[in-house]
Amino acid sequence: MALQPLNSSLPPTIEWRDDTLYLLDQTRLPRECVVETADSVEAVWRAIHELRVRGAPAIGVAAAYGLCVAMKHERQASREAFLARLEHHAAYLDSARPTAVNLHWALERMLSHARGIAAQTGAAIYDALVAEAMRIHREDVELCARIGEHGRALIAPGSGVLTHCNAGALATTGIGTATAPLYCAHRDGESFRVYADETRPLLQGARLTAYELQQAGLDVTLITDSMAPTLMAQGLIDLVIVGTDRVAANGDVANKIGTLGVAIAAKHFGIPFYVACPSSTLDLRTACGVDIVIEERGADEVAQFAGRRIAPEGIQVRNPAFDVTPHALVTGIVTELGIVRAPFEANLAALFAKGEAV
Ligand code: MRU
Repeated sequence: MALQPLNSSLPPTIEWRDDTLYLLDQTRLPRECVVETADSVEAVWRAIHELRVRGAPAIGVAAAYGLCVAMKHERQASREAFLARLEHHAAYLDSARPTAVNLHWALERMLSHARGIAAQTGAAIYDALVAEAMRIHREDVELCARIGEHGRALIAPGSGVLTHCNAGALATTGIGTATAPLYCAHRDGESFRVYADETRPLLQGARLTAYELQQAGLDVTLITDSMAPTLMAQGLIDLVIVGTDRVAANGDVANKIGTLGVAIAAKHFGIPFYVACPSSTLDLRTACGVDIVIEERGADEVAQFAGRRIAPEGIQVRNPAFDVTPHALVTGIVTELGIVRAPFEANLAALFAKGEAV
């Protein structure tokens, strides 16, 4: 059965149509559903930087199309000039956000695809780039579905599942990563309840996860981040499943700020803590979590609430957008190739060595 994660009235997260990139503005959801045209590479950079398109896999797909947007007007260039401009735009897009490795991964894949095209004209390389971006997009949809099937068995009848941030359909172009097993279980008629952390400061859990799961007809309950340990203590949570922006070679996991606290609480209460991601989020070139660059965002996101200042003027603010959960707290990593468990360093390397990982 085809999975229909979102209300069909909601447009796709990302769409490429008639050589034009359309992005659903996630900062306005769920109050307004606005699709914007990203008609310059600067517009794509801003959309990623300002979280109008967000979530690691979606950022990768948007960046791949972003290069097409950038190169659309350079089709008259010679091969050398075209490739030089392409590299320039890729470096620019790569600077939009530092933590999600999918951004760099997608841009690298686009660059290496372009370099491998024998054609001598910019126009021919452009066509090949568009085809590759569409392939990355299609693969994302398929990878989410496969993650869902692998993670499906984790959702026991009658269980309570906690998730943090939005690793859902809105964070991808498919059925999400952390949400994919939930959508599969729901498709199968399984009865279970999802608890969504609101996810301060930008409320991706409240605005996006609660919204998309509700639209899809799942049993979802919204909580504030600080309520999660209490629900665990009350026996309401049987499983935690979250997404990730980058997994280091040793299995350390970077994800939305607050994930670490959830993982520590889960360990304390003996609750399995799973991470779901496509293999493009596994970064074996980064040895461990301390090497992951954590994005630090502006003070207003913390000092304001819904556009109104809540903290005293002049207060010092910290706003790391992500944290790193040590692999010792991770029960398993659900990928499109199956579930990887400890010892993570050896088992993640084996996953890539099979040559099957993206
Ligand atoms: O800042 P965001 O909203 O881009 O953060 C998103 C997350 O932390 C997600 O959990 C992660 O990117 C995985 S999305 C499948």
